[in-house]
Amino acid sequence: MNKQALIIDCDPGVDDAVALMLAFGSSELDLLAVTTVGGNAPLAKTTRNARMLRQIAGREDVPVHAGAERPLRRKPAGAGAFHGDEGLGSLTPFEPAKTVADGHGVDAILNAVNAREPGTVALAVLGPMTNLALALRREPMLARRLGPVAIMGGARGEGGNITPSAEFNVWADPEAADEVLRSGLPVTLFGLDATHQVRATEDRIATIAALGTASAETAAAMMRFSQTVEREIVGGDAPPVHDVCPVAWLARPDLFGLRPCRIAVETQSELTRGHTAVEFRVDPDTAPHRWAVSADADGVFALVAEALR
Ligand code: BDR
Ligand code: CA
Repeated sequence: MNKQALIIDCDPGVDDAVALMLAFGSSELDLLAVTTVGGNAPLAKTTRNARMLRQIAGREDVPVHAGAERPLRRKPAGAGAFHGDEGLGSLTPFEPAKTVADGHGVDAILNAVNAREPGTVALAVLGPMTNLALALRREPMLARRLGPVAIMGGARGEGGNITPSAEFNVWADPEAADEVLRSGLPVTLFGLDATHQVRATEDRIATIAALGTASAETAAAMMRFSQTVEREIVGGDAPPVHDVCPVAWLARPDLFGLRPCRIAVETQSELTRGHTAVEFRVDPDTAPHRWAVSADADGVFALVAEALR
C-alpha cells in the first residue's frame, strides 16, 4: 500500500501531541515534516514541544520547522488552562538533542508540496491556520498543488469551546481561517461536532498506557492531563482528543462521516469572533468544503494504539 505523504502544522498542545505520535508511528502515513505555529503556547514552546515529541518517538529523521509566531492581525492568545503553561501538560520540558530545521515553516510547506507531484502531499493543520494562510498568500497556486487538507477547527452544533460560539483554533486567528476558506483550496474541517465524539475514556487511556512504549506512555500522559482539566473546567470525565481526528482521517478516511458544504468565518463581531457558519444547502459536486459530522471513536483509538505499539 502507498503511504499518504503528509505535513503536520501544529501547536503542541496535549492533543497535538497524541496526533503527532499517531503520525510518527503510522504505517499508513509518511510524515515529511512538522511545522509549528504560536497557538496553545508561544512559538518557542510549541516548537520545542514538537522536537521533544519527535525525540521521544525516535523520529529525528522528520524535520521540525518553526512557522508563524503570531496571528495575522490578532494578539497571540494561548490556551494554558487546557495544555499547561509549557504546552504538554505535566510532562517536564527538556532540551531535545536535535535542533530546529533551517527555513521558515511556510517555506517548508511550499517546498515539500512543490517537490512532489501535484495532489500527492496532504496537510493536517492542528492549530491556528496562520501558516497555511501565509503560504497561500505567497503562492496561490498551492491551492491546486496540495493533496487532501484536513483541519482541526470550527464550531457549529456543539457550540464553542473558547467562547459560546467559537472553537479555539479558528477564534485564535479568524482572519487566517477566513483567507484559507476563501482561497479555493478544498478543505475538510474537523470541528467540535466531530471531535467531541472522539473522547479519551478511562478504558481507552488505560489501553494506550499498557502498550508500554515511550510514545504510548507519553500519549497516555497527555490524555490523563486532559482528563484532569476536563473534570475541573468542563465537568466531564472523558476529554475530546481533537487533533487526532484530521490525522486519523488521512490514514483511514472510512472512520469519519463528512458532508459537503460552504463554510464562512465571523471576523467582524467580537461576540461571535471565529464562529464557523456552515451552509449545507450546496451542490455536492461543486461544494468548496466538507464538514465532519461523525466519527468512529473506537476505530480511531484502535488506529492510535496500532501506531504506538
Ligand atoms: C483545538 O484547540 C487547541 O487548544 C487544541 O490543541 C485543538 O487544536 C481544539 O479546540
Ligand atoms: Ca492544536
